[in-house]
Amino acid sequence: MSQLFEQALREIFDRPRMAFSSAEDVYSFGGNSTSGQAAELFGREQINLGLRGRTKDQLLGEVAQHHSFAVMGTKARAFRASLAPSDWIVDIGGGTGWYWMATRGARVVLVDFSRETLSLAQSILSEADEVLCLHANAESLPIASSTISGLWSVQVLQHMPDLVLGNVVREAKRILRPNSRVEICNLNPNLLNRGSRWLRLARGARLPVNYELNVAGGPEWRACLAPLARRPENARIQYSELFFHPRLHFRPVRYPISLENILVRALPLLARWMARQVNISIDNA
Ligand SMILES: C[S@@+](CC[C@H](N)C(=O)[O-])C[C@H]1O[C@@H](n2cnc3c(N)ncnc32)[C@H](O)[C@@H]1O
Repeated sequence: MSQLFEQALREIFDRPRMAFSSAEDVYSFGGNSTSGQAAELFGREQINLGLRGRTKDQLLGEVAQHHSFAVMGTKARAFRASLAPSDWIVDIGGGTGWYWMATRGARVVLVDFSRETLSLAQSILSEADEVLCLHANAESLPIASSTISGLWSVQVLQHMPDLVLGNVVREAKRILRPNSRVEICNLNPNLLNRGSRWLRLARGARLPVNYELNVAGGPEWRACLAPLARRPENARIQYSELFFHPRLHFRPVRYPISLENILVRALPLLARWMARQVNISIDNA
């Protein structure tokens, strides 16, 4: 049993006496049944099964096709460092958790309902500091109430049907402490994103996984996540990945992150028009 898992058993898991299983340092308390995402779970397991045996560099190369390391790595570093080393962050639908590489600060529980994905996470995060992989459904977490200081989730909630989303937000509210921080990123349904998606599908591209895709924008996400904010003004809508558009094959080698930060602050309307992601940041401190 890893030292981090032992700490989690003492401090945050609410089923310490229940049997857990572990293999390759992925922990599970069982019961990851899914109410409305069977097709997504099946698709993710299949894809990631196909990636087994790849080296860490090969896996990172795959991730880089779909995500910006520069933007999300910087965000993850700042988020983790903003909390104390004694705190816990839960990453909902953490997948391979690539953004936690080279980060430090609060301890991270990376939750995913796809066991195959967590195997890949283990290889990507082999040198990462204090990241625990937990096989569970975010609709029902084996985590005690009011024990978690940070909630993080990247491009996950966008795939949840309404019923699942409602359960996940309720569960997140239950585990979060009152003075928590939350960072949730989803695809921004602006013209650029919607148009490029439509164009690719029209040209015959097929979705890799049969999942839902909510087309909620900032105000809708803020309303959906309102239960996690102690006061409405604690929740802010932000935009990110202005210069990263993989569907248009636009992945700058040297990402202009300072320019992105300036645009987001000075020209929010332009940022909203350009951004690939819409983020809800909640600071209840
Ligand atoms: C698009 S991937 C994003 C992964 C990662 N956050 C990233 O940005 O690379 C969505 C992930 O959410 C996981 N997921 C979806 N619904 C879930 C649920 N109800 N509980 C736990 N994990 C879930 C999927 O298995 C998948 O790994």
